[in-house]
Amino acid sequence: MKGIKKILLGILVIVVVIQFIHPARNKSGQAMPNDISKIVAMPEDVQGILKKACYDCHSNNTEYPWYTNIQPMHWFMNYHIISGKEELNFNEFGTYTPRRQQSKLRSIENSLKDGTMPLSSYTLIQRNAILSEVEKSQIINWVQNSKDSLTKKYN
Ligand code: HEC
Repeated sequence: MKGIKKILLGILVIVVVIQFIHPARNKSGQAMPNDISKIVAMPEDVQGILKKACYDCHSNNTEYPWYTNIQPMHWFMNYHIISGKEELNFNEFGTYTPRRQQSKLRSIENSLKDGTMPLSSYTLIQRNAILSEVEKSQIINWVQNSKDSLTKKYN
C-alpha cells in the first residue's frame, strides 16, 4: 500500500509541476506576404471555414482551445501544430513551388472527402470544427476553382 501511495503522490506532484511550464505559442501577428489569399481567390465564407476548422494546425496563428491551458494538452497541441504546419501552412502557401501548391490543393480535397481532416482527436472537443456537408462542398468547390486558376497562371 505504501508503495502505491508514494507513486500516486509522485504522479500528482508531476501533474502539478508541469502546469507551470508554458511552451512558446504559435502566434506570429506578422504580415503574411506568402498567404494563400495572395495566390488564389479566397472568398470570405471559405476563409471562415478554413479558419475555424484548419488554421489552428495549418497556419502561423493558433486560437488555442481552452483545454490547452492544462498540461500536457498544450504539448499535444503543439505537436500537432508542428507536424501540421510542416505538411501544409496556409500562411506560407506562396513559398511552395507551383507543383507543390497543386498537390496540396488536391490533398485538401482528399482529406475532406475521406474525412481525415480535421483530426478526430481535435474535433472530439472542438465540436465547432466539424464541417457540415455544405461546408465541405464549399471548400471542395473552392479547391477546384483554385486548381483551375493555378493551371492558367502557371501554364
Ligand atoms: C488538430 C490539428 C489539425 C487540424 C485542426 C487540421 N489538421 Fe490537417 N494535419 C494535421 C497534422 C498533424 C498533419 C500531418 C500528419 C497527418 O497527416 O496526420 C496534417 C496533415 C494534413 C494534410 C496532408 C498534407 C499532405 O501533403 O499530405 C492536409 C491536406 C491537411 N492536413 C488538411 C487539413 C484541412 C483541410 C483541415 C481543416 C478542414 C485540417 N487539415 C485540420 C493536423 C491538423
